[in-house]
Amino acid sequence: MLYSDKVMDHFEHPRNVGEIENADGVGQVGNPKCGDIMKMYLKIDGDVITDVKFKTFGCGSAIATSSMATEMIKGKTIAEAMTLTNAAVAEALDGLPAHKMHCSVLAEEAIKAALADYYQKKGEPVPESLKLPCDCEEGHCCSSCG
Ligand code: FES
Repeated sequence: MLYSDKVMDHFEHPRNVGEIENADGVGQVGNPKCGDIMKMYLKIDGDVITDVKFKTFGCGSAIATSSMATEMIKGKTIAEAMTLTNAAVAEALDGLPAHKMHCSVLAEEAIKAALADYYQKKGEPVPESLKLPCDCEEGHCCSSCG
């Protein structure tokens, strides 16, 4: 079996799909390897993530990892969510095939982008660890690469 039971479960019954109106942070990222897109919405109260939803134009592994990632950060503090890695999400799903690991990066990056948006909306500096590496050719297309 290529995919674990947990991956299949989260793919077939993804948790926290949708969007949040008046979200405190919204992040959208694209996967340069396949062109798939992930959008993440966060509701934040104090420093706790009280709600999280996602939407994706992505493959089954992207859906399963995002679903698991939303469960892993819901009710957690911002600091805890910032340390979530795609490897930890894949591990919580009992693993992903090596050639699908890149799909799990979407979830981690979308959460980071949504947290960065939260800081920006508040007018506070975005912590370094939330800045995504930019993969544009020019090196001056956005705030990440200046
Ligand atoms: Fe694009 Fe999985 S193939 S996210």
